[in-house]
Formats: sequence, structure tokens, C-alpha cells
Amino acid sequence: MAISVENGVFYLETANTLYQMKVDSFGVLNHLWYGAKTDDCMDYLLDYPDVGFAGNIYEAENQRTYSLNTLPLEYAAVGEGDFRVPAVSVTHADGSNALALRFQEYHIEKGKYKIPGLPAVYAKDDEAETLTIVLKDAASGVEVSLRYGVLAQADVITRSVVVQNKGKENVVLNRVHSLCLDIPYGNWEWVHFHGRHTMERQTERAALVHGIQESGSTRGTSSHQQNPAVLLCEKGCTETSGFCIGAALMYSGGFQAQIECDQLEQVRFVMGIHPDTFSWTLEPDACFYVPEVILSCSEQGMETLSHRFHQVIREHVCRGRYQLSKRPVLINNWEATYFAFDEKKIEEIAEQASRLGIDMMVLDDGWFGRRDSDFSGLGDWVVNEEKLQGGLGRLVEKINRLGMKFGIWFEPEAVSEDSDLYKAHPEWVIRIPGRNPVRARYQLVLDMSREEVVEYLYRAISKILTENHIAYVKWDMNRSICDWYTAALPAGRQTEMPHRYVLGLYALLEKLTTAFPDVLFEGCSGGGGRFDAGMLYYCPQIWCSDNTDAHDRVFIQYGTSFFYPASSVGSHVSAAPNHQTGRVTSLKTRGTVAMAGSFGYELDLNKLSEAEKEEIAEQVSSYKGYQRLIYEGNYYRLRNPYEDNMAVWAFVAKDRKEALVQGVVLRAASNVLRGSVRLRGLDAESFYQSAQDGRVYTGRALMAGGLLLPRTEGDDAAFTICLKQVPEVKNKN
Ligand code: GLA
Repeated sequence: MAISVENGVFYLETANTLYQMKVDSFGVLNHLWYGAKTDDCMDYLLDYPDVGFAGNIYEAENQRTYSLNTLPLEYAAVGEGDFRVPAVSVTHADGSNALALRFQEYHIEKGKYKIPGLPAVYAKDDEAETLTIVLKDAASGVEVSLRYGVLAQADVITRSVVVQNKGKENVVLNRVHSLCLDIPYGNWEWVHFHGRHTMERQTERAALVHGIQESGSTRGTSSHQQNPAVLLCEKGCTETSGFCIGAALMYSGGFQAQIECDQLEQVRFVMGIHPDTFSWTLEPDACFYVPEVILSCSEQGMETLSHRFHQVIREHVCRGRYQLSKRPVLINNWEATYFAFDEKKIEEIAEQASRLGIDMMVLDDGWFGRRDSDFSGLGDWVVNEEKLQGGLGRLVEKINRLGMKFGIWFEPEAVSEDSDLYKAHPEWVIRIPGRNPVRARYQLVLDMSREEVVEYLYRAISKILTENHIAYVKWDMNRSICDWYTAALPAGRQTEMPHRYVLGLYALLEKLTTAFPDVLFEGCSGGGGRFDAGMLYYCPQIWCSDNTDAHDRVFIQYGTSFFYPASSVGSHVSAAPNHQTGRVTSLKTRGTVAMAGSFGYELDLNKLSEAEKEEIAEQVSSYKGYQRLIYEGNYYRLRNPYEDNMAVWAFVAKDRKEALVQGVVLRAASNVLRGSVRLRGLDAESFYQSAQDGRVYTGRALMAGGLLLPRTEGDDAAFTICLKQVPEVKNKN
């Protein structure tokens, strides 16, 4: 049993971790523990200090040391003397805010709970158990059900919340976070992933300061600027040692993660929908479902934590035909042509690509409506026959005849003012009456909270997918949303709109992925502006960044790897000089870096020399050889490019029979020793042969002494070393 209850203490056990809570004598649910398996009840850690200016709940009578402001709480509300960041805050019909959440009941079920309308971790009934703990505010009738999905073997616990209004009057939810985790002891640092368009998920680690540290987005998408995944680690925690906790929110809209270090050095970590762009009116009997957070912790440092997240995302978040399987190596025409293409140009690129072993041609932006620049056409999902003279069907057939699959780009949520859709339905865009709408990339956004908009998009996209043999869809979204308004809601409920937008997006994705189970959907938002576990439920891969410069990608992919598996990382080889940075890197380096993900190309192959084409054919063939290892192997961050002059990463097969070590030396240096790197995750007792120089090493030597890296020349020089287990030492020196 992963979940058990004894004397009011809840035990949630996974293979290597333990989570504990306890209902105390006042019915308050205390958080006791999340960490190593201790074989003990951790309530002895609860302390009741006499802290000045601490409020006491009335039931505690004259016990001035019983205060919700100092106790670790499982789900913190406001109005009862806890002044730390709350998990939940409401406004009652009388304008007051207090919630006195007290234990009511609990249920344990086999299997993993689902969340209506929202993506959620899924598991077979024998892989997970669900615990629901119901807390109630007696005065208002508000019920808060905390839900825990325990995936024991995966070492993962998911958390979600359902709020039900069992009172007689409306209640407004101002904030309902998915996670609330109180940690009374320890010296903590946090790691978050910030950035910007073309430079997403930069890794930042910092000691906690007293007060609140926060990462979040109010942009309507999870955003380039902050990612909804945060790590808390004990000071000194490394890749391979020390304790850390990771939380990834399965949500693609605005989010907030706050970590508060309070007056007693206690830490509270909350995470959920961003309250600045959210509130929700709950009528009597109505329920509100909160997106879930995926939680894991590790005593062996961040590497083990990453492995757990990679596994749960691949096996319990991503879905569909391409969830685990190999994906086609693709060529995308965006950086090859931008908007300037016609049928002939696409065919020429595809012909070259098919000769080099590439599996799929992806036609990017510009194939529809009057889309000749980013001023027009979005919303008109009908082929532009001036560019594709024979229509889409003929082009797809030609590509298919080359032995290639065909993929296509959509930006369903967007609309250009210069489009037939906007002329027919100006009321479908997000726009505040009496004000001009805010444009970004010259475009507006459709009101995804309206069913007729979702229905229109479903019909328009499914028509293209039904009438043409399309194997792949790139789902883009190229702006943030700020001037929220929907005609579908009354004035007092406009703040529901950002969340309703996300629900509409998910409804459309669910309907399309169900109707077209053989189509591979790739997420995108100007690259990685919506790279989150919510989108990965519908799209097993996401275009990681619009920045295809291999040097920058080393940093972007390093940060992405903390939570997201390589199979989810769309990465392409593009032209040199790079279109975003002007930097020149070798084709070898571009190939090596792009291979650490779902691989493809994005350049005009016809402009390359014969030697370059040959090199690409070799890259494609070696990627196909490595793809399984890259997707299914354990990922190791062996060198941190922020600290070293190189990034080195490795994929090691779960059975330890094979390893692929890759890296980039960022800056060339003269008169230096060759670099070396200690590998991890190999079998110490086995022998491994390098495919590059034929040398056989013991696993123990490679992990203790390390692997000598090839001598490289020039900045951003890449290397690849493939090691395979061999039965015995053949050339031990
Ligand atoms: C976004 C995407 C790019 C490309 C363009 C097309 O920026 O991230 O890959 O599809 O849009 O407009």
C-alpha cells in the first residue's frame, strides 16, 4: 500500500520517498515530512514556540504557543493568524476572507485521479493510488479537497485541489494554488529557469532570502521568461549528492511559484495559477478544479530528481502513438525560406532531404490565406494557391512519393486583422470594448473561452488533416496576452477569462489529438514560450527555442533538462552564420547539439556543398542509430556550461550496455591538457569499448578516472563518444 493512515497520520510512500501529514487535535492538517524514508512518524519535529505577535485559533483557548503562523501546514488559508503566503484565499458574500480549514474525511482509491478539463498525470490502476483529504470551513460551507496521486515506483507524488462551495452564497476564489509545502528545517536554495524569447530556461540558483522569492507569468502562457518548474535544494546539493525537491506545474497559462523564508527560517513553497490574472466565482454546489503539480524529491542530488521527472513525463504525461516511439527526423522550411516559398521550392528542399535520409518535410508558416508576411492571414486555415499552385493535396502527394511524411504549421489561437476570419468575426478576438486591442507581432488573439471559436478551429484544422495525408502538426502561439476580456462573461467575472482561455485550448487539443491519433503534435510558442508539462500531455515534443545557435542552445538545453526529457526537446540544425545571433559554428557542432533532443533540420539544403550534404546524411544516420538511447536512456549533466568551459552530457541506456557522451568546448585554449570527464551510471564491473578509438575501458575506470576527451580546435567545438559494453577487455594497456 503506497498510502496508509495510522492515528490521524497519513503516510504516502514511494520506492525511495515518504510524505507525511497529520490531523492535530483541532482538526488542522499539519505537514510533517517530505523526504527520505524514515520508518518513523515525524511529528516529533513539530515545535510550538512562543513567538510574539502570533495569533491563536479560538479552539486553542489559552495555548498561546499554538499558532498557525508557526506550524507547518498542509494547505494554508488566510484569516486565522498565518501571515505567510497562503495557498488559498477567497472572498465571501459578506466581503470577508477567512477560511478555517478543518479535517472532515478522507478517501483512498486505487489508480490515479483525473481532473475534468485539465491535463493530469495518468497511470494504470496498479501503478498509482489516490488520497483525497477533505477540509471544510464550517462557517461558509467551502470544502477544499486535497488530492494526492502516489506513483510509488516512479517516486512521484502529484497534488491537486478541488474547491466546492457547499454554502448558500457565492464565493469568489482569489487564489487556489496546487501546491503548498512547508519545510521548517534546513538551509535552502532555489533553482528556477528564467529567460526571454530565443533564450529560454536559463538556470539560476540562489540562496533564499528572508521574505518571498517568486517566479511566474501573467502572460496567458507559461512563458519564455519563467518556466513553471522550480527546484528547492539544500545548500551544497550537487548533481549527485544532497537533498532536493522539484515541482513542475502541469499548466500552460499564467502561473506563480512563491517561496517564502519566514521569521523562523521556515520555508513555504506554493505554486499554482497566477492570482494576479485569476479569480473565479463559485456558485453554491459548484466545484473548481485546480491544475496539478508533479512533485518528486531526491536524496542523491539533482540528477536523480531529473531522471524521475524525465520518466514520469515520458511514461505518465506524454500520450499517443509517438509518446515513446521514435519520431521522424524532420526538415522544416522556416529558416530556409521564411514566407518566400512556393510549391517548387518546398519540393526542392524535400527532394534533397529525402536523399539524405530525412523522414519528414514540415511546411511552416505562410502556406495559408494571404499569409505573405506576418501582417496578414492568421485565422484563414485554407491553402494559399498562389504559393502552392496545385493545392496542398498535390504537394503532400509529391512529398509522400519521395518516401517522406508531411507535416504542417498552425497558429490556431491567433488572428490577423487582415484576414477573412477577422472580417467575418471581429467579435471573436480578445479586445476590451471601447479600447484598442494590443497587437504583438501585428496579431490579435482569439477568445478561446468561447465554444464557437474552439468549434471553428476544430473544423478548420480537422478539414486540413482529413483531406490531406498529414503526419505532424506544429502548434504555434506567437504572443503574450494582456488585455483580457470576453463577451461571454459578465463584468464581475472577467477575471475568469485567462483560465477559461487555457481550458478552451486544452479542449481543442484534446478533441484534435483524439480525432487524429496518428498525427504527431509538436508544441511551440515562438520556440519555448509554452514549454510545460501541460502542453506535453498533448504534444510529446515542443520546439525548444527559436534560437538555433548551437552555442546558445547548449545553455537552453542544459536548463530544459532539469525537468523535461530529451525526447520532448525539439532541436534543429540550422544555417551558419546563425540567423538569431550571427555566430558561426561548425556543422558538426550544430548536429551534436541538436541530437540531444527530437532531431531535425531547418535550412536550405540546396545551398550546401556536397561535403556538407554528406555530413548531414551521416548525422541523420547516426541519430537514427542513437535515437532510442537518447529517448530512453538516463540523462547525465556531466559538465555545467555556466561553471566550466564546456558542456558535457551523456545518455546511458537503462541496462547500462551503451552510453553516448557528447559535449561542446565553448572556448578554445592553447597549451592545455585535454579535458576529461568522469562518467556516471555505467556498470563498474563491465568493459566498454569506445566506437571512436576502439579502446576498451572498465566501467569503474570511466567513472573514477574519467574519459579523456578528444582534443578540439576552435570555439564551440563538439565531440561525441559512443561506448558499448563488450564481453571482455580486448586491448587493456
Ligand atoms: C514562431 C516559431 C518559429 C516559426 C515562426 C513562424 O516564431 O517558433 O519556429 O514557426 O513562428 O512564424
